[in-house]
Amino acid sequence: MSTLLAPASVGPRRGIRSAGNCLALPEARWNSRFLKATRGEAVDRTPIWLMRQAGRYMQHYRGIRAGTSFLDLCKDPARATEVTVFAQEWLGVDAAIIFSDILVVLQALGMPLEFVGGEGPHLPQPIRGPSDVDALRDPLQAAADLDYVYQAIRQTSAALAPDIPLIGFCGAPFTLASYALEGGSSRQFAKTKAFMYREPDAWHRLSARLAATCAHYLNHQVAAGASCLQIFDSWVGNLTRDDFREFVAPHLATLVSHVVDGVPVILFGTNTGHLIDLIRDCGADVVGLDGTVELGDARDLLGTQVAVQGNLDPTLLFAPQDRLAAATRDVLAQNAGRPGHIFNLAHGVLKETDPEQARYLVELVHGG
Ligand code: CP3
Repeated sequence: MSTLLAPASVGPRRGIRSAGNCLALPEARWNSRFLKATRGEAVDRTPIWLMRQAGRYMQHYRGIRAGTSFLDLCKDPARATEVTVFAQEWLGVDAAIIFSDILVVLQALGMPLEFVGGEGPHLPQPIRGPSDVDALRDPLQAAADLDYVYQAIRQTSAALAPDIPLIGFCGAPFTLASYALEGGSSRQFAKTKAFMYREPDAWHRLSARLAATCAHYLNHQVAAGASCLQIFDSWVGNLTRDDFREFVAPHLATLVSHVVDGVPVILFGTNTGHLIDLIRDCGADVVGLDGTVELGDARDLLGTQVAVQGNLDPTLLFAPQDRLAAATRDVLAQNAGRPGHIFNLAHGVLKETDPEQARYLVELVHGG
C-alpha cells in the first residue's frame, strides 16, 4: 500500500501573491527581483539565473568534484552548499539552484543508480513490468530519505545573501519515468512509450507514485528554505499534445497543486514549443521556454497571468561578445518590457562554456 495524493483537475493554479501561513521568508527574499518577476510584479532590472549554473564548465566545481563521485558530492551538504553558493556569487545571478540531481528521487524509491564517468546516469535495474512499479518504495518514506538534500538547502539558504532566493527542484513524473524505464538517457524513448501505450494502468500508477514522492520532496525543500521550485520535465517535448493530455497532464497538475501556497513553481521542458499552453494549464506560475519558441510569440500565446523564463540558446555563449550581446538584446526586446520575465538559457550551460562568457551575459542582462 503506498501513500498517494488526491488528484487535481487540470486548470489554473492557486495564487502565489501572498505568503501563506507555512512560509517563513525574510522580507528581502520575498521582495527580491527574482521572486517579484515570478509573481509578475515590476522589477528594476530583468532577473537572470542559468540552468546548470554550477557544473563542470567551472574550474571551482571541477576542483571540488576531483576525487569524489558525483553522487557523493550531492550527498555531502557542506560541499553541495559550497558549489551552489560559489556559482551564484561568482556569476552575480539573481537566484541560486540547489546542487543535486533529479535522479536521486529514483534512488530513494529503491532503484540502484550510478553515474559512470562521462557517460551520464545508469540505472542497472530498470522497470520492466507492472510488478516492478508496485515494488517501488512508499512516497513518504522515499521523500524522508532525501534528508541530505534538505540539509544542503538549510545550509545554502543561510549562506546566501538575504535578497537571493534559493530554487529547489525535482524531475517531473514523465521525465523520471523515462529514466526508470530506459535505465538511462535515451533518444527515441522506445521503452518509455511502449510501456505508456501497452500498460496504461501501470503507467498511471507509476506516474502517480512519482508525483506523490515529488510533492512531498518539494514541500520538504520549502520547509528547509527553498523559496521557488522548478520542475524539470526535460524530455516531455517528445510527446504529442494528445499524449501529453492523456499520460502526463493529470500527474503534473496533481503534483503542482500539492505544493504549499506562496511558493512559485516553474515548469520547464525541452522541445516543448507545441506544449506550452498545456504546461501552463498544469498550474505553472512560470513557464520555462526552450529554443523551439520565440519568447514574444510565447508571451502572446500564454497571456498575462503567467510569467515566463528563457530563452537564449546556450551555444550563443560560444559566440564573440558582440553576437552574444545582439542575441541577448533580441530576447529582451521580444519581451518588450512586459512584467514577469526571468532571463535564462533555453537549456543548461554546456560543459565547454567559458565561464567568463556566462558572467558577461549576466552583466548584459542587468545592464538592460
Ligand atoms: O546548477 C544546476 O542547475 C543544479 C544542478 C543540477 C544537476 N542536474 C547537476 C548535474 C540540476 C538542476 C540537474 C537536473 C537534471 N539532471 C536534469 C534536468 C535538467 C536538464 O538538463 O534537462 C536531468 C535530465 C538530469 C539527469 C542527469 N544528471 C544527466 C542526463 C546527467 C549527465 C549530464 C552530463 O552532462 O554528463 C547528470 C549528471 C549531472 N547533473 C552533472 C551535474 C553537474 C554532471 C556530473 C559530473 O560532475 O560528472
